[in-house]
Amino acid sequence: MADGGVVAVIGTQFGDEGKGRFIDNLIESESISVVARFNGGPNAGHRIVYQGKSISLHLMPSGVFSDGVMNVIGNGTVVNPIKLVAEIDELIAAGRTIDKNCLLLSNAAALILPSHIIEDIVTGGKVGTTGQGIGPAYMAKVGRHGVRTNLLANPAIYEKTLRDDLEQSLKIHGKTVEQWLGMSTEEYMVASVSAAKRLAPLVNDAGVYLRAQIASGKKILAEGAQATLLDINHGTYPFVTSSSTTSAGVASGLGIPPTAINDVFGVAKLTMSRVGEGPFPTEIDQGELADKMRGQKGTVDGEYGGTTGRSRRIGWFDAVVIKYAAEINGLTRLGLTKLDRLSGYPELKIAVAYSYKGKRLDGFTGDIEVLAECEVEYETFAGWDDDLSGIRTYDELPQNARTYIERIEELAGIPVAMIGVGPEREQMIIR
Ligand code: IMP
Repeated sequence: MADGGVVAVIGTQFGDEGKGRFIDNLIESESISVVARFNGGPNAGHRIVYQGKSISLHLMPSGVFSDGVMNVIGNGTVVNPIKLVAEIDELIAAGRTIDKNCLLLSNAAALILPSHIIEDIVTGGKVGTTGQGIGPAYMAKVGRHGVRTNLLANPAIYEKTLRDDLEQSLKIHGKTVEQWLGMSTEEYMVASVSAAKRLAPLVNDAGVYLRAQIASGKKILAEGAQATLLDINHGTYPFVTSSSTTSAGVASGLGIPPTAINDVFGVAKLTMSRVGEGPFPTEIDQGELADKMRGQKGTVDGEYGGTTGRSRRIGWFDAVVIKYAAEINGLTRLGLTKLDRLSGYPELKIAVAYSYKGKRLDGFTGDIEVLAECEVEYETFAGWDDDLSGIRTYDELPQNARTYIERIEELAGIPVAMIGVGPEREQMIIR
């Protein structure tokens, strides 16, 4: 791929595709200087094993494990300072140095206030949100009464804002701060003010920084959180998150020109999953098949939420979705995860078309009524029993696995560039 510019890494399905491992690979193989998060907040979650320690990342960009890489949290994100400092502390405990030489927090990101968390807990059930205050924080931002990360430089005003916000929220929702947030008001204030003081030196103008990096020919990786079908504009509304998760969100969420994005790497999981409510046309009903595909709770590659621990819904690979993701994001290449988890099935299915009321649809639609009732047309493929976890070259894959991958490629209309065959970093086939 061309030197310089921006490569965006985007989830193509319902999230949890395993974007982090491709980001790791691209940082090394494509000389990435900056990793920048452009959307979402602590609703995202992935677990990384670093030098034997398991670390949970939520808002922190994935470049924090690579020496010499700058990490940027862009203006399009929503930030919970206490949670972000907890992530920083986990990284420090694991031996990483986290300071302004490797982390820049935009001065224009939206702050998640305690009332946002409380409101999300009260109202988020219908959508099955992560309860992190994401939707209400974006509502405050779009409603133009939110507060931004530049406030962290002024801890006294920040504390007053939090106290007023909490007081208002308790008047509406009752209960105690302890019941909502798991700590007393004073504990919450101390933690928040201390977090503000820790984060303030990292706060800066992210757009100015990123545009200067682009101008000097550096290569930036824009790290997407959640995924295409959870996009506020193009997903399965209202069962979506509250941000722009597609490549269209990169420019506005980072303060860079869209023309700087010259590569869009889509990530798709072969054991497709969804957490929370909403349509999922290829969902496999609970039962032996779903259990097998989901895997064991507590294992690195079991299908359970990274932020919430919830059991994920599971389904057959859906090429209608991937085609949609390719079109809407302008995908240039595809990374597939969990091919190893498909060993041991007599046959595998791929969704190739939807019909609604007897008529074949042109492609994917975000219309939830149609999705709930559509009929899915599948192609069936012979499975394989081989253990793929040690395979590193495409040609070593069993013929049935190659036929399956090549059909996905054909249906998506874009090349498959990398294939994950296990949870470890090096368990990857590069084509
Ligand atoms: P929210 O982002 O917490 O508001 O949740 C909105 C919807 O997005 C819910 O269905 C969540 O389960 C889903 N969601 C949010 N973040 C993630 C993620 O990182 N992976 C998968 N689903 C997510």
